[in-house]
Amino acid sequence: MSNDHMTLTETSKLLLHDKEYELPTITGSEGEVGIDITQLRNKSGAITFDSGYGNTGSCESAITFIDGEKGILRYRGYPIEELAEKSNFVEVSFLLIFGHLPNKAELEKFHFDLTHHSLIHEDMKKFFEGFPPTAHPMGILSAMVSSLSAFYPEAGYNADIKLNIVRLLAKLKTIAAFSYKKSIGQPYVYPRNDLNYAADMLHMMFAVPSESYEVPNVVAEALDLLLILHADHEQNCSTSTVRMVGSSEANLFASISAGICALWGPLHGGANQQVIEMLEKIKNDGSDYKKYINMAKDKESKFKLMGFGHRVYKNFDPRAQILKKSADKVLNQLGVNDPLLDIAKNLEEVALKDPFFIERKLYPNVDFYSGIIYRAMGIPTNMFTVMFALGRLPGWIAQWKEMRETPGARIYRPRQIYVGETKRPYVSIDKRK
Ligand code: ACO
Repeated sequence: MSNDHMTLTETSKLLLHDKEYELPTITGSEGEVGIDITQLRNKSGAITFDSGYGNTGSCESAITFIDGEKGILRYRGYPIEELAEKSNFVEVSFLLIFGHLPNKAELEKFHFDLTHHSLIHEDMKKFFEGFPPTAHPMGILSAMVSSLSAFYPEAGYNADIKLNIVRLLAKLKTIAAFSYKKSIGQPYVYPRNDLNYAADMLHMMFAVPSESYEVPNVVAEALDLLLILHADHEQNCSTSTVRMVGSSEANLFASISAGICALWGPLHGGANQQVIEMLEKIKNDGSDYKKYINMAKDKESKFKLMGFGHRVYKNFDPRAQILKKSADKVLNQLGVNDPLLDIAKNLEEVALKDPFFIERKLYPNVDFYSGIIYRAMGIPTNMFTVMFALGRLPGWIAQWKEMRETPGARIYRPRQIYVGETKRPYVSIDKRK
């Protein structure tokens, strides 16, 4: 057992076809109970069925704890609210990946490494030229991260893993900013070692060679907060993808590239882009938000309130609560008056009182307010999910590393219940109907 906090407690009994099977029960450090079915198939021939994995624990993990009923999110035991208020993204990245808050020397070294590995190989710039201007930056991001394995082929676990982790964290923001510059046809702006992580990213996006540009503090601070809030979220779709790919011992860059693709989907990280598109649609439709609430309740319409609902959070998403306050603050400080913020607040107010949303425990998730802040910062809509990927990177890396360091970790390989045709003979083409 890799996790010292996990205890083997009692056994559970399963009655199947009149035969009883004893299965061990395990309890995590926060009292979460799991039935260990690793020997179930060997003992009984049966498997469990859990479409969408809503009840399946795929690993033991000591990185992030979520209690969806109570709205609790903690990284390595530290509440997200405290980290959001007192820490910064580089420190949180260290915490997630290495398991403890860095001391002063460790943090300085980590920061130094992240700034001194932020250049990408000049040959990589040629890759950007090959993409059409219409390319979505998430597609470019994933392709570029995968391409890093061509420049650093020794990226398996046994190579200098710390160095490759630093390389990836340092270079992802450069790649993300270059993909934006490519999409608007402007020259690339190189990273600056005197800026912090968030400010450097924004400088690479918004500076132009002909003008001097200073990143406003309020904007850099807002991005740093957003990155912290997105940094990890236990076994979500993209993180499970990173673990799934990594379980075959694929290298770090290949595994993260797959996670970026999983994040892109509108039901996951792509929702932040969809939220703004939805709010714009409502605005252009005379701001009649009640009409869209009714559409979301009508199953025939196939319309969903984007940024609402979560597989795990069933009372509130603590990240969304922090971001709602931050949206007010950032827009005020920047002097931005965005009618989309009013529509979002109206939608939330009406939905939270509506029995349809109350019964299904549908609340705003992290994506509901993040898009409004990104807009106020001047970040274009198609870059929202890229910003999410930048934030989630330390979590993906931490989970990949933890998996590779777990003794006896096996390749991920779920089973299925086959519902297709049973055995039948081949029919030659002249005899087919
Ligand atoms: N609008 C309207 N109805 C909804 C919504 C929504 N946003 N979300 C869920 N429902 C309804 C479902 O239709 C279902 O109703 P039913 O019980 O009558 O059939 C019920 O609520 C339960 O929803 P499921 O889809 O079964 O919940 P699941 O856990 O599978 O999905 C998900 C969670 C994907 C987040 C879903 O709520 C959704 O699609 N939300 C909108 C997209 C979104 O915001 N995604 C971002 C998630 S956060 C993140 O990844 C960073």
